[in-house]
Amino acid sequence: MKTKIFGHRGSSGTHPENTMAAFIEAEKVGADGIELDVHYTKDNQLAVIHDDTVDRTTNGIGLVRNHTLRELQQLDVGSWFSGEFSNERVPSLQEVFSWLQDVPHIQLNIELKYVALDYVQFEEQIVQAIEKYNVMEQVIISSFNHYALKKVNELNPNIECAILYMERLYEPWDYAKTVGATSLHPNVLVTEPTLLIGAKEAGFPVRVYTINDEDKLKKLMSAHCPAIITDYPEKALRIRKEI
Ligand code: G3P
Ligand code: CA
Repeated sequence: MKTKIFGHRGSSGTHPENTMAAFIEAEKVGADGIELDVHYTKDNQLAVIHDDTVDRTTNGIGLVRNHTLRELQQLDVGSWFSGEFSNERVPSLQEVFSWLQDVPHIQLNIELKYVALDYVQFEEQIVQAIEKYNVMEQVIISSFNHYALKKVNELNPNIECAILYMERLYEPWDYAKTVGATSLHPNVLVTEPTLLIGAKEAGFPVRVYTINDEDKLKKLMSAHCPAIITDYPEKALRIRKEI
């Protein structure tokens, strides 16, 4: 079984993260999937951005939560990476879903970011959008917030959920079941051969994040890791061909 390759925040090593340019590039180079991050805006819309502030990746300042979607989309989310991307705007999750409908071979891993207590109806809106755009077969929801996963699972048990984690967990597949998750997204630092073996026996796909190092990519691919998440999908694809 070939290791699936997911572009982390798109092809974020070569394009500005979490932009349509980065997603389109990942698909163009042949990635199997894309990972992105979703936050809630001031007007309770779903915005694709990693940090809880706009400071690092746009020409604005302040919390994402203090901007409406319209305000966010007036910001330049590409120039911090390179001037050639100055037209990039913060995508809404719905815009990404529209594009996803045209690339049915692509899987989309949506990471729910830092679900705060004031993120009212956040999971509901995510589930409704997935159902409206009919992309359930392509989507995997992940989060470090496992309460959020449980909620998604209760709203629609047919949506695949994955626990994100960065510490050693004992038999994580058993724990994952308690929140309705059916796959594991561990940090590369806690991904040991025993984890891959145990997860395989338990029937849990493992998608390891975030690996850019060539030797580590080779090692995981040789160990038949089901999937890896990388900033450089093109490089990972080249390595996969060589193995
Ligand atoms: O989904 C894996 C990875 O994206 C989690 O970490 O900080 O890059 O969102 P981060
Ligand atoms: Ca992420």
